[in-house]
Amino acid sequence: PKTLRDLADARHIHIGAAVNLDALQHDHDYSRVLSDEFNAVTPETAMKFDALQPQPGDYTFQQADAFVNYAHQHGMVPRGHTLVWYSALPPWLQNGSYSRDQLMYILKDYITKVVTHYKGQINVWDVVNEAVDDDTGQLSDSIWLRGIGPDYIDMAFRWAHEANPQAQLFYNDYGTEWSSKKFDGVYSLLQGLIQRGVPINGVGMQMHMHTQFYPDNATVLQNMQRFADLGLKIDITEMDVLTSETKVDMPTTLKIQADIYGTVVKDCLQIKVCQSIVFWGFTDRYTWVHSDLHRDSDQPLIFDKDYRHKPAYDAIVQALKTP
Ligand code: G3I
Repeated sequence: PKTLRDLADARHIHIGAAVNLDALQHDHDYSRVLSDEFNAVTPETAMKFDALQPQPGDYTFQQADAFVNYAHQHGMVPRGHTLVWYSALPPWLQNGSYSRDQLMYILKDYITKVVTHYKGQINVWDVVNEAVDDDTGQLSDSIWLRGIGPDYIDMAFRWAHEANPQAQLFYNDYGTEWSSKKFDGVYSLLQGLIQRGVPINGVGMQMHMHTQFYPDNATVLQNMQRFADLGLKIDITEMDVLTSETKVDMPTTLKIQADIYGTVVKDCLQIKVCQSIVFWGFTDRYTWVHSDLHRDSDQPLIFDKDYRHKPAYDAIVQALKTP
């Protein structure tokens, strides 16, 4: 039978998943289903600052290289996630105190070394991740904002572009599928970058959603269209649909979850510049929601913990088959 990957290839879009490297290296079912069903992959943690530069000046690319090699061996497109974020920073950086010049040097050195290391292998980067505050729409606090100032974002994109002029450079965030100060803040950040001639090609809409409260679809489409009207590509970068807040029985919850997954895939197919949909994992056996949110019973993804298709998988198949 056709896999998601076959259906996506026929539509010339990427359908992908965030990859848990530990599972990839130890769970054969995981790596088999991943390469059967997806044509794009994002490292869940292997390319974050704390993984690539655990000690000052000591770049540790081995694990991330294994991820890129897996992608290459299976004809999958790897995404670079993520160069500049307030989280996943090594202690020497998080707890150190640096002058503005020192911090600019650290960030420029990091972006240049990492993007150069993967030049020719990774052609799309989440350059800056989650830099806008959910409630105010202003730039959110981070060592980068405090230590360098608001133009750290412009600098990051320019340094990434200098290192690899061919790479597609994205700003990535969550919560931009609602009418909210968050959307307005991200929108005006992107508008400013474009107005200043900063090299940015697209915006990642993470799409971390819940069965109990999800936006009306008209808003999702309108927000996608507004980003598209800025001249940006739109990637769905981290979709999952959490179930632990559910107020109804599980079969009904999984049906609601399927409707959300199917709707967002259809939305992306409707917007010409949306050509990539990545789920934040693919099997309920491995999800950040259990480890990071401590919601062990949540079933946010499209395969169950035994790699069986869930209703969400079937809804995505239907959406990919819809002309
Ligand atoms: O590798 C260490 C291990 O050595 C240690 O024993 C263990 C216990 O402390 O921690 C392990 O590191 C964990 C890492 O995942 C690898 O498993 C970190 O604690 C944990 O915080 C980290 O969580 C990841 C988180 O980003 C922070 O990097 C999640 O798996 C990952 O799903 C999550 O992904 C983010 C996206 O990058 C950005 N958008 C939101 C999304 C969900 O938070």
